[in-house]
Amino acid sequence: MVSDLVEIRSFMTSDADECVQMRAEAFRRLFFQHIAPELINTAINAYKPDKFIETAAHNPFFVATRNQEPVGFIGSQFLGKNTIEILFLYVKLDHLKKGIGSKLIRFWEDWLQKNNPEIDRIIVKTIIPDYNQRFYEKHGFEKSGTSFCRYQAGQIEALCLMKKLK
Ligand SMILES: CC(C)(COP(=O)(O)OP(=O)(O)OC[C@H]1O[C@@H](n2cnc3c(N)ncnc32)[C@H](O)[C@@H]1OP(=O)(O)O)[C@@H](O)C(=O)NCCC(=O)NCCS
Repeated sequence: MVSDLVEIRSFMTSDADECVQMRAEAFRRLFFQHIAPELINTAINAYKPDKFIETAAHNPFFVATRNQEPVGFIGSQFLGKNTIEILFLYVKLDHLKKGIGSKLIRFWEDWLQKNNPEIDRIIVKTIIPDYNQRFYEKHGFEKSGTSFCRYQAGQIEALCLMKKLK
């Protein structure tokens, strides 16, 4: 199984460009059917390499590699004492549906349980629920409402999903 050949490690500063690229590719090649064209660039430009580096410095952020090459990543941010939000979960397009996204989310949850046992709630906001809601539901998330992902140039409606850990 491909995911058995994948290793997961902490984010390094040198991963930032690759992560930006993976996210941008998902928006350009997967999400274009679900988001208004004028908002695609807004969403892509909301996260430049510096933002990834800054987020990873203070929050759990991991990269999946195959033969040392990044093939996916998960980044999150603490929200208060008991809640964490998944900000990014992306798998390289030529590695989709091979178990890598599942491996990343499981690794991240295990890491959280060991290192931040006080966290009892995970949230994720998705602006493309038609595309990825089922993936999150398979991992125990449930719909919890709607919200907006706010970017400097505008906002996009998002579906909120939540998972209780205790
Ligand atoms: C969502 C994402 C991370 C899933 O990663 P992945 O490695 O392809 O997923 P997995 O191979 O681990 O799939 C796990 C299960 O979810 C299902 N699944 C994965 N992606 C799915 C999708 N887009 N729609 C419906 N089901 C999906 C798989 O079929 C699999 O089901 P199974 O266990 O019954 O076989 C990946 O599709 C991705 O990077 N998408 C683009 C970015 C994205 O949507 N990120 C989330 C932003 S909030």
